[in-house]
Order: sequence, then structure tokens, then C-alpha cells
Amino acid sequence: MRTQVGIVGAGPAGLMLSHLLHLCGIESIVLECRSRHYIENRVRAGVLEQGTVDLMIGTGVGERLQQQGLRHEGVWFSFGGRRHRIPLAELTGGRAITVYAQQEVVKDLIQARLGAGGQMVFEVDELSVQELDSIRPKIRYRHAGVAHEITCDFIAGCDGFHGVCRESAPEGVIAAYERVYPFAWLGILAEAAPTSEELIYTYHPRGFALFSMRSPQVTRLYLQCKPDEDLNEWPDDRVWEELCARMRTEDGWAPAVGPVLQKGVNGMRSFVIEPMQFGRLFLAGDAAHIVPPTGAKGLNLAISDVRVLSQAIEAFYKLGRGDLLEQYSAHCLRRIWKVQRFSWWMTSMLHLFPGADGFDHRRQLAELDYITTSRAGMTVLAENYVGLPME
Ligand code: FAD
Ligand code: DHB
Repeated sequence: MRTQVGIVGAGPAGLMLSHLLHLCGIESIVLECRSRHYIENRVRAGVLEQGTVDLMIGTGVGERLQQQGLRHEGVWFSFGGRRHRIPLAELTGGRAITVYAQQEVVKDLIQARLGAGGQMVFEVDELSVQELDSIRPKIRYRHAGVAHEITCDFIAGCDGFHGVCRESAPEGVIAAYERVYPFAWLGILAEAAPTSEELIYTYHPRGFALFSMRSPQVTRLYLQCKPDEDLNEWPDDRVWEELCARMRTEDGWAPAVGPVLQKGVNGMRSFVIEPMQFGRLFLAGDAAHIVPPTGAKGLNLAISDVRVLSQAIEAFYKLGRGDLLEQYSAHCLRRIWKVQRFSWWMTSMLHLFPGADGFDHRRQLAELDYITTSRAGMTVLAENYVGLPME
């Protein structure tokens, strides 16, 4: 088999890349180790930046997003028993975030690719990438017991943090920078009508908590827990008790309790590789970087990488220019490090760190007080939260 761009991974990065390439007449094949059903139902992120929303609508995959997405023009920070609103749209010239689940983005992109006759292979095994420093790199894999090989012009490694592409570059050519946090998030999806129309990030002496939602009937909630937390120790009653203890405010606000539909624990790390390229292998999304979830940036960063990559590949085929491909990594890393900084800052401001003392507690409260009362402080938060402009 032969294609222009072989794409490993059908997450938001791989699928959006395939879609953008198709729109400029470039052929790709997407290879995914999981089933279509699995990736269309995997519960993960849910907050889209303005630029992600604009890209989806602008490229014809925003119909359901426009019908079902919940546009939020503000976000709340709760501490010391009180809630404070940051007016995102007012501070950023009308930009906002939209709550729309990652698996819905995945469904919309798969639908668009299949509708356009795009090639996708699910449930591939033993995938490997070869001859990366040649002009004809190859992807080998097995599907339904049969071995296949695809010869490509380029390979896009969009296979997430645990994928195989990043590890396929020779040792020593890629450097990694990392922070692992001494806590995790326990997340639930609950059948309960959201009692706030907008998200609430809570700082509490018992630990961080987050109120979010998926629809007018479904709430999404998270609480800071131990990194190795055993879910068996968290029956639903205990989860609700802890969420309410952290989130209840002086005015009596609390999340509504309801049946728990899904429960999971996610570790937290910051991770970046440099460069995001080796030969004709280009890495994008979680394959190249991870952010802690505070700030909701993981999915959005994956989308901004492939937007840059698709433009560089288009310039190669249409204008014979290789310079944008050479600059791909440096171009993306400027945004990635700003988003890493924001996610690290949000995480540091809102979580309880082991060994923290009264000084740390007061410093965190002062920072929250500052960013919810100073117009300059609120603007710094707002312009990062809705998404920095694409360069
Ligand atoms: P992925 O979505 O991980 O897609 C990679 C794809 O590659 C997967 O479908 C995988 O099955 C496939 N793959 C892997 N290895 C191979 C292989 N060898 N061969 C073929 N295919 C392969 N971000 C937030 O902002 N907020 C959140 O609440 C949040 N929750 C998260 C919860 C979890 C459990 C995880 C893992 C991530 C979460 N994130 C969250 C981060 C966000 O979901 C990711 O940043 C986003 O999915 C990145 O998209 P991607 O396409 O780069 O990678
Ligand atoms: C959600 C996840 C996040 O990481 C975040 O910062 C805000 C909302 C969510 O899943 O809704």
C-alpha cells in the first residue's frame, strides 16, 4: 500500500489531521489499535477553546457542536467559602470556551472522514514505524491476522502518550522535560442536572475540586486524590460527601447528587519532547506532550499541533516548500511551553501539596484573591483559558 501521509492514532490529533489534509487534497490513512466503538465512547476531556471551536465550524465538522455544545462566557473560582466569576468574553473581546465532550469530537471527525471516503483501519496490532530518515518511511502492522506495509511520504505519530512512534526515534535525538505531580484526579460523570451554568474550580484545605458538565442532565466532577488512589475505597457515597465538603459555599450552593455513570482516576504530569520530529516522522498531541488537566488544555493543544502540521505538509506538496516542515517543531513548541506554563500555574495555585504549611496556604489564597479581583490578573487568566491566538 502507498499513501502520502500515514497517521498513527485516531484520537483528536490524528483524526483532525486526516480531515485537514483531505480538505487540501492530500491523501492519508489512519491506523488505530482500538475499536471504533471504544474510541467513540472513551470519556476524557470536555472543554474546547475558542480556536478549536472556530476550526471545527470553519472546516465543516461543527454542526452537532453548534447544536449541543454549551458556550460559557465565564468561569468561577471558589475559595474561602465564596465563588468569584471571571467574565471571559468581556475580558477577551468576545472569546469563550465551549463544553463539548472529546468523544463527540471524535465521532464528528470519524463521520466526516468516512463520509468523504477516508481510509481508516481500526483494531490494528503490532504496529511499527520504519526507515524514518528516508524519503519513503514505512508503517507495518497486522490487521485481522494479516501483515500489512504502507509506504508513506510522511508519518504523523498521533498515538498518544503510550504510543510507539515517539520511542521509534533513535536514542539521544529527542530530549524529554518532565514534572510528575504528587496527586491525581478522581473524576465522575453523574446523572444530575448541573446546579451552576458555568465551571467552578475550587481551592479547599481538603484539596482541589472541579465542577463541570456535559449536558443539561449530566454533571462532570473531579476531586484531588492520591496518585495511587484505589477506586474500591471510593464508593459513590464517599465521593459525593467529599465533593460536597469541598465545593459547598457559604450561600448554600452545592452540586446536585445523582447516580454515578462513570468513575476513574487520572495521574497528572507535565511532559514535553524536543524536537517533535525525527526525519519524516512528525509527532503531535499527547505523543509529544502532556499537560496536567487543570486548565483543560490537552485536547486543544493536540488540535493546534495538527493545524500547524497540515499547513506545513500542504506547503510541501503545493509550493514545494520544505521550510515549514523544518520549522514545525519550533513553531509548535512556542505555544506548547506557554500552555505548559499555564497548566502548571493553575495546578500549583489550586492543589494541596504534601508538606504544604500555613505560608503556602496563605500564598495560594492571596493569588486566588488577586486573579479574581484585579482586572489585569483576571485578563491573564481569561486570555489563556479561552486559548491564546494561533500565530
Ligand atoms: P489520544 O486521544 O490519546 O489518541 C491517541 C490514539 O492513538 C488513541 O486512540 C490510541 O488508542 C491510539 N494508539 C496508541 N498506540 C497506538 C498504536 N501503537 N497503534 C495504533 N494506535 C495507537 N484533557 C483535558 O483537558 N481534560 C480532561 O479532563 C482530560 N481527561 C483525560 C483523561 C484521560 C484518561 C486521559 C488519558 C487524558 C485526558 N485528557 C484530558 C487529555 C486529553 O484527552 C488528551 O490531551 C487528548 O486525548 C490528546 O489527543 P491525541 O489525539 O493527541 O491523543
Ligand atoms: C473538564 C476537564 C478539565 O480538565 C478542566 O480543567 C475543566 C473541565 C471537563 O472534563 O469537563
